[in-house]
Amino acid sequence: MIEIHPLTPHIGARLTGIDVRKPLSASEVAAIDAGMDKHAVLVLPGQDITDTQQLAFSRNFGPLEEGANSGARDSELRLPVVFADVSNLDKDGRIAERSNKKRMAALANRLWHTDASFRVIPARYSILSGRIIPNQGPNTEFADMRAAYDALDAHTKAEIEDLVCEHSLIYSRGQLGFTEFLPNERVAMRPVRQRLVRIHPVTGRKSLFLASHIGTIVGWPRPEAMAFIRDLIEHATQPRFVYVHKWKPLDLVIWDNRTTMHRVRRFDDLNIVRDVRRTTTKSDGPTAAQEVA
Ligand SMILES: [Fe+2]
Repeated sequence: MIEIHPLTPHIGARLTGIDVRKPLSASEVAAIDAGMDKHAVLVLPGQDITDTQQLAFSRNFGPLEEGANSGARDSELRLPVVFADVSNLDKDGRIAERSNKKRMAALANRLWHTDASFRVIPARYSILSGRIIPNQGPNTEFADMRAAYDALDAHTKAEIEDLVCEHSLIYSRGQLGFTEFLPNERVAMRPVRQRLVRIHPVTGRKSLFLASHIGTIVGWPRPEAMAFIRDLIEHATQPRFVYVHKWKPLDLVIWDNRTTMHRVRRFDDLNIVRDVRRTTTKSDGPTAAQEVA
């Protein structure tokens, strides 16, 4: 029997009663979707799955995004390109060295973000499987962008209603001083436009579409835009909007990138193995018209 227990008043719930190793029935898929629409983050404990099973499970929730490991060439990847390898391992399965380029890029996951907001069609669900989980963290934190939107005053809601932001990996990584992009990477990471306020297609609830990938607001001077975005992220990530996930081995955690931001906390990644593997499904379409090239 499927059971869902909320983990905070706003966001996050624990779902039991589904075996992710097996093909899902239509009612199981519907139960997960309904749980996601309500809680935005679902934790399915004890899911001892293979890569193949993770892919099959993920395909229930939309087409998969590929090339999530931006910044690394295919020959440098440990996992097939359909996975985002969020581990601290290099292509040979060893702990990545301090100066490893993938590690450098992944440090931006410690900033509040939504996955793939830098793509024209941004992500729907991220599905993260905890294969090897250290005893000492790191936690992943999730912030509820619906509750954060609801808590804004009427003046701010009116001001942001039609704003459009530009998102790029160049901006998020640049915040940490990572600027070593190859010319072809700069083309691949060209900013894309996303609405700042989006409406969930099922629930109709509005939410803030925020991320550290944002580099400006269209039509605004850039410093003014970034100061405002910083204020909004600070507002939206107050503890009252946040669920802190303390990982256990074989947790499968699903979050809706349309309604949440997240970040991973710091840990001793040069000495302790953490193997977590993400699959990502696409949302319905762009949230904003793109700039004509
Ligand atoms: Fe992420």
